[in-house]
Amino acid sequence: MGRVLLAAPRGFCAGVERAITTVEEALDRFGPPVYVRKQIVHNTSVIHDLSRRGAVFVDELDEVPDGALVVFSAHGVAPAVKEEARLRGLATIDATCPLVTKVHKEAVRMAEAGYEIVLIGHAEHEEVEGTVGEAPGRIHVVDPARTEDVTADGSAPVGWLSQTTLAVDETMRAVEELRGRFPGLADPPSDDICYASQNRQEAVTGIASGCDLVIVVGSANSSNSRRLVEVAVNAGAGAAYLVDRASDADERWLVGVRTVGVSSGASVPEALVEELLGWLAARGYADVEEVTLTEETLTFSLPPELRSPREP
Ligand code: F3S
Repeated sequence: MGRVLLAAPRGFCAGVERAITTVEEALDRFGPPVYVRKQIVHNTSVIHDLSRRGAVFVDELDEVPDGALVVFSAHGVAPAVKEEARLRGLATIDATCPLVTKVHKEAVRMAEAGYEIVLIGHAEHEEVEGTVGEAPGRIHVVDPARTEDVTADGSAPVGWLSQTTLAVDETMRAVEELRGRFPGLADPPSDDICYASQNRQEAVTGIASGCDLVIVVGSANSSNSRRLVEVAVNAGAGAAYLVDRASDADERWLVGVRTVGVSSGASVPEALVEELLGWLAARGYADVEEVTLTEETLTFSLPPELRSPREP
């Protein structure tokens, strides 16, 4: 019978915990509906659960009625969107992860210092849209796998920043390629790829070479979850797949497989991992060994609007 290596850390990071708690607390304090611009975190099950409790997910503020409360998602939001909310007199709570806010501040500082900024990331991702909005016209987004596409011409000093959920190795390769083109390329003051993305990638790297198959639980629009699949393959897993939940897993993946690695993205509730472990156990993979690389203790306090004690 087969065995399972369960990567740790996996699942919820501090920014996701804070964002989900923000919506739950807003629902408890102010009652439904609570509008949320974009998915609060990129996980189908979390969105489904919060929707049932009265959260209303919208793409843009024009879908939010006057006088309503709107929460900004963990991925961050451009200043223009905050300004639009202010002009409309909407009540807002910003659930942007503090580690995304840090990148926004770096973008503002670099732009003020006269730099053109190359932002390594995926142009269509909400986090990138939000960061670009901090210095419109000064930020050039480039996919980590396509640095040759960068549009900065080097006539001004150039610095780089990155999306928080990229693969570390791929990003460092991209930085070196950019440095070849812009020898004076300025680095960010600290790592933009967040601790949670790094820890989950390292944990998967640690088990991948001993696994015939790695299954990552996470939604298809979750950047950090998708990176875990790539990292698993690059670190030697026989194959790796992303599943939103256990029912998406395919028994044919198990043919000839002795060891299955399991992990989950930073927006994934542990119950979905347990569901997958149950699915695997029912197919002969009941021997589960958790392989812990790092202990995580970081937590973030709630947004200021929710920090005061409740009215009696
Ligand atoms: Fe924040 Fe990283 Fe999680 S940026 S939301 S701690 S994946």
